[in-house]
Amino acid sequence: MTAEKAIRVGLGERSYDILIGSGLLSAAGESLLRAIPNAKRCFIVSNPTVFSLYGQSLTRSLELAKLSCNHMLIPDGEQYKSWDTLNGILTQMLTEKYDRRCVIIALGGGVVGDIAGLAAALFQRGVAFMQIPTTLLAQVDSSVGGKVAVNHPLGKNMIGAFHQPKCVLIDTDTLVTLPDRELSAGLAEVVKYGLIGDFAFFEWVERNAAALRRCEPVAIEHAIRFSCAAKAAVVAADETEQGVRAHLNFGHTFAHAIEAGLGYGVWLHGEAVGAGMIAAAALSARFGCLSDEDVVRTRDVIGSLGCPTELPALGAERYWSLMQLDKKNDWSGARAQGCSS
Ligand code: NAD
Ligand code: GLY
Repeated sequence: MTAEKAIRVGLGERSYDILIGSGLLSAAGESLLRAIPNAKRCFIVSNPTVFSLYGQSLTRSLELAKLSCNHMLIPDGEQYKSWDTLNGILTQMLTEKYDRRCVIIALGGGVVGDIAGLAAALFQRGVAFMQIPTTLLAQVDSSVGGKVAVNHPLGKNMIGAFHQPKCVLIDTDTLVTLPDRELSAGLAEVVKYGLIGDFAFFEWVERNAAALRRCEPVAIEHAIRFSCAAKAAVVAADETEQGVRAHLNFGHTFAHAIEAGLGYGVWLHGEAVGAGMIAAAALSARFGCLSDEDVVRTRDVIGSLGCPTELPALGAERYWSLMQLDKKNDWSGARAQGCSS
């Protein structure tokens, strides 16, 4: 087991560590007890794909730490990040008489993390939870920062809360089993941190795209560490997205329209974010805020990471109507200028 120094998300009494390294899953129970010393009963939320790969290792580590646990597997797929699935989790926890001292553990990608986190925010007005992200996308983005949600047929992530985990445990070994397409989708979120705030990191991703796609351990761990540190700093500065945290949504207004427009799960979230960032960059260029060369470079790097670079052809009207449902919309300025929503 190797874990370098943890990355701290500084949020006062709700601060927590992001542990990153190889082989950490086998000591997840100890890590949980360090973060939540009075923990006793755990409830693991996962899906059949991930649990069949990593469930045993996690449950063994909890048993070694003398933590009792049960689990619930939700069906695999973005279309199950829904109110019905959430209700199923809450019902099982109530049936099994979990109380307010329990800990929910999310073992999986962003779908599992978002829905388990929302269950933790709601169950008996809020219980502790731990994120164990197993996709690159979840490791570099969704497991950190406390945004938890389910989708509504009318819009992505429309029903949610801010509820921070007590600990994030990233075992880089889990990426070995991740399909290439999922890895590429996660890499789109990695390069986002370069595009929104660190040109040197953007250039590093350009140079290391091939190594990242091969999931070479040194390159991938650097990418995860850099991304988590960048996200931790933004979340510490603006937990509830009153300002700078909105930068993390770069490309997401297009992305959410792609996902809802095609039907959840047709494009992966990270793929939609990649194409969305290219579209957002092209739009910025139209307003004279970026050069054409910037747009080409953005498109090239996203393509080199294995993600699609063209928006799906939904038609301008459909994009416009879907983008009006984005929850980041602020119509106050538009109304003042006589626009209608
Ligand atoms: P996902 O959770 O659907 O996982 C992708 C696929 O990979 C699934 O089929 C899953 O079973 C499989 N998988 C997971 N880990 C695996 C492993 N180690 N080996 C083999 N297969 C594995 O998708 P995702 O890309 O992780 O997450 C996307 C979701 O995250 C979206 O719902 C998005 O809205 C959300 N998200 C949330 C935030 C946030 O801040 N909360 C940020 C970004 C994205
Ligand atoms: N993924 C965007 C955020 O966490 O704010």
